[in-house]
Amino acid sequence: MKLVNMIAAMGMIAVSSVSFAHGHGACSKTDLHGQMMSIKKELRALSQDVKSDNLKGAGEHVDKLIGLFEASKAETPYLFHEQNLQGDALMSARTEYEAVFDSAIEKLQVIDAEIANGNSSKIGSAVRELGKYRKIGHSKFKADC
Ligand code: HEM
Repeated sequence: MKLVNMIAAMGMIAVSSVSFAHGHGACSKTDLHGQMMSIKKELRALSQDVKSDNLKGAGEHVDKLIGLFEASKAETPYLFHEQNLQGDALMSARTEYEAVFDSAIEKLQVIDAEIANGNSSKIGSAVRELGKYRKIGHSKFKADC
């Protein structure tokens, strides 16, 4: 193999091992990732309880979700590390990130109140609306990894 080809081949190996480490490592090992997996699980359980009219169970899932959203709000998304955000740039990105969770938490509090009032007809649509925050949060703050 010519020296030039060998150097090119070594470069390709180095690049692909970096992207491998990236795709299967740091991104899925964050505390935020773990919290997100729990959010997914709790949301499913909430939908099921709403469908079967188990308002007591639904209320418990909403409380857990509020706690998980509060905890996620305090984390820093992997994307911000990847972009190496610091100082004012990090502050303003964080403010935007936290605001999405605040809106989602407000929505959960509305759902909590509907559950307390036994207003089951309104709960289903409110729960489905939570998906909106997932879309916004992931399109703005989730790294492509
Ligand atoms: C509302 C329901 C939500 C669900 C069900 C949800 C679910 C998930 C899941 C399952 C993951 C793991 C990666 C994957 O498999 O795609 C994830 C990652 C992530 N989510 Fe969510 N998510 C929700 C809302 C949000 C919100 C509101 C934000 C931000 C404002 C957000 C930001 C992120 C970020 C940044 C990651 C990547 C992990 C990291 O950077 O460490 N998610 N989410």
